[in-house]
Amino acid sequence: MAVINPYYPIPTKIKEIIPETPSITTFVLDGRPIDFSAGQFAELTVPGVGEAPFTPSSSPYAEDLEFTIMKVGRVTSALFELKPGDSIGVRGPFGKPYPLDAFKKKEIFIVGGGVGFAPLRSLFLALVHNIKHYKKIYIRYGARTPQDIVYKKLIPEWQKIDKVDILLTVDRGDDSWKGKVGVITVILDEIPVNVNSAPTIVCGPPLMMKFVTQRLVEAGFKDEHIYLSMEKNMSCGIGKCNHCRVGKFYVCKDGPVLTWKDIKDIEEPFI
Ligand SMILES: Cc1cc2nc3c(=O)[nH]c(=O)nc-3n(C[C@H](O)[C@H](O)[C@H](O)COP(=O)(O)OP(=O)(O)OC[C@H]3O[C@@H](n4cnc5c(N)ncnc54)[C@H](O)[C@@H]3O)c2cc1C
Ligand code: FES
Repeated sequence: MAVINPYYPIPTKIKEIIPETPSITTFVLDGRPIDFSAGQFAELTVPGVGEAPFTPSSSPYAEDLEFTIMKVGRVTSALFELKPGDSIGVRGPFGKPYPLDAFKKKEIFIVGGGVGFAPLRSLFLALVHNIKHYKKIYIRYGARTPQDIVYKKLIPEWQKIDKVDILLTVDRGDDSWKGKVGVITVILDEIPVNVNSAPTIVCGPPLMMKFVTQRLVEAGFKDEHIYLSMEKNMSCGIGKCNHCRVGKFYVCKDGPVLTWKDIKDIEEPFI
């Protein structure tokens, strides 16, 4: 049997580009160069520029593979220059999936900030695909302004799904915004799930993760039920280069999702 080189990006093309916010865009790839389960990530290569890790934002059950990406630096800026039909590379999937079997028959409490909704969207769509297994799915999402909310057209459709409850907040509102205003913790005052049994899944910028985790712990969620997406610098993606160490964990191999129980004794785990 041929040995597949894990460092070799599979060539693929961009099929569609969907602007989400002024700095966040969804890239739909042509076909499905890789399979994945919710929670796993891939390395995307821009030829001649480099590669960076991203978690798919599409459903693991969908035909297309999508990534929702914020422009922050070298690789992401080069991605934002590309057009439909342009070539990129994909390698993966890497890391461990969410333990969806352990979530069965439970309420699931998902908390996202900014572009952190991207990996959570993939998880959410995987849960909705098998919604009969789960008691109820709660999403709590915060963005800086109404303009910065990702998936603006999709959220109203998701809100109509039975057993789904979504609440949004923005740090700063505008004339069009009728919802909550304030940082993400303003919509975590009330926790509508049984904190003794519910898993809670968090993804967002480091500071948001820190304050949300504090709030979830204070609300009574069990440390082993708090699942956190760790966004460490990565290189190899397969546990060889040591770039992504958090305490004793390699985020690329043991994560990218670790529980609060795993990391709570590490000094400044979210940096
Ligand atoms: C497992 C995993 C999954 C990820 N999934 C996604 C995803 O779905 N969507 C997505 O947009 N990003 C995601 N990221 C983050 C993404 O990998 C980085 O934004 C990317 O590596 C930046 O590469 P760059 O070359 O454009 O920036 P660089 O040139 O490496 O960085 C330029 C500058 O931007 C800063 N920077 C880097 N990353 C970020 C960031 N995330 N936010 C703010 N500033 C930053 C750096 O500190 C530096 O100052 C994920 C990261 C990991 C580890
Ligand atoms: S990215 Fe190389 S060890 Fe994790």
